[in-house]
Amino acid sequence: MKKRILALLLASAMVLSLAACGGSKTDDKTDGTPAATEEAGSKEAGDTALADKKVGVCIYQFADNFMTLFRTELENYLVAQGFSKENIKIMDGANDQATQSGQIDAFIAEGVDVLIINPVNSSSAATITDKVVAAGIPLVYINREPAAEEEQRWADNNWNVCYVGCDARQSGTYQGEIIADMGLEKIDLNGNGKVDYIMIEGDPENVDAQYRTEFSIKALKDAGLEVNCLDDQVGMWDQVKGQELVGNALSQHGNEIEVVFCNNDAMALGALQAIQTAGRTVGKDIFLVGVDALTEVVEDVIEGTVSGTVFNDHFSQAHGAADAAIKYVKGETNEHYIGCDYVKVTSENAQEILDMIK
Ligand code: GAL
Repeated sequence: MKKRILALLLASAMVLSLAACGGSKTDDKTDGTPAATEEAGSKEAGDTALADKKVGVCIYQFADNFMTLFRTELENYLVAQGFSKENIKIMDGANDQATQSGQIDAFIAEGVDVLIINPVNSSSAATITDKVVAAGIPLVYINREPAAEEEQRWADNNWNVCYVGCDARQSGTYQGEIIADMGLEKIDLNGNGKVDYIMIEGDPENVDAQYRTEFSIKALKDAGLEVNCLDDQVGMWDQVKGQELVGNALSQHGNEIEVVFCNNDAMALGALQAIQTAGRTVGKDIFLVGVDALTEVVEDVIEGTVSGTVFNDHFSQAHGAADAAIKYVKGETNEHYIGCDYVKVTSENAQEILDMIK
């Protein structure tokens, strides 16, 4: 209840926009009606027609901080809407498409009523779609957006297949803007008139990594800044890899590095460890940005040890995916693309974001 009251008290425009795209915990239903779980006891308040429906969920990898938040919220929300916990099966693809494909086959054989899939390889989406559609099961993709041609097939064939997620271009743009808004004078510590940066990328299989890499730098250029890339490495969304790569880059380029862009917060946490080990201080002689708004990173933004992050709204995405699945189960249709907004997180709004996510 405390969190719900807190959320209600947050009056800024940013928070209003979050609420508009559903950015709140399971205990606030998306339509703004009171929490099923808290006010009435979950099952009775949920839709009884859903209690015996089976949901199969495939997550690309459980060992991913952000996807752990996502799947926890997804499960809680599905239960709050009326599904029985025992009828929601969530599988770990262990970052292996063959493993995940086997899990999808098993769900098809079991005859689940709807599938929610976070593909290991977005490029396998067409194969996945074909077999799920052939089995007559509606399908909601999450987090790793399939290619435009694949999405077009769903529309052309009028299939019950959709994607729920945010546009990663926006998150990249926000990262760039956080840095650009500081002004060249503050960032350009070596005085060469350029933003000297390193980029730590997520899994290239995920369009989020490609877009964040591209659009963060585009935002700097659009703000009229000259840029200089000192290093660009793939850290696979992983904290340990992030630490290793940033550690290497710092030993190689030392004080020349002014900004560290990480495609996600897990890698930014690793980067921060490497930065501190190298005796550098974020906000003073180096700047660091991530994406996701993991609790730890938002706390770091408040303390000033991370320059900023971007909230990857797992509440909206989880609720949106569950709502789409429910519509399919009830025989209704969905738009094929269901989007949501990212939110820029700086020292100015970090406390509000923290109160909401914690
Ligand atoms: C991104 C997120 C990353 C990682 C990835 C997995 O949206 O920012 O932290 O979870 O999805 O596909």
